[in-house]
Amino acid sequence: MFSKLFGLFGGKPVRIPGTAKIGEGESRRVTIGDPLADGLEIIVGRVEGKLCALDRRCPHEGGRLVDGPLAEGRYMVCPLHNYRFDPKNGRAVGVVCSDAKTYRIREQDGDADVWL
Ligand code: FES
Repeated sequence: MFSKLFGLFGGKPVRIPGTAKIGEGESRRVTIGDPLADGLEIIVGRVEGKLCALDRRCPHEGGRLVDGPLAEGRYMVCPLHNYRFDPKNGRAVGVVCSDAKTYRIREQDGDADVWL
């Protein structure tokens, strides 16, 4: 499904501007490409001072992770069944579920590069 997107970016990072404004325990939704045409939505959040990037699609039953304040200041949440995911590694917390997809991300000069 995302083959067109991967082809578009060819393994090069995608620049996300202004990530320095994402505070500790906060997150922001980022849309890359057109979500109605093979685009992608990720959630970028900050935990323990580091930026993390997760695919917005929940690995449980197709819900979508939400942006904004992180649960307990450290977990991304899918509101469909309230599963929590650790943004640092994508692991579900306290439930048996596949990991959420994570992406490599690196901050630089107030922006970030993410590898899809
Ligand atoms: S679909 Fe996300 S928690 Fe169930």
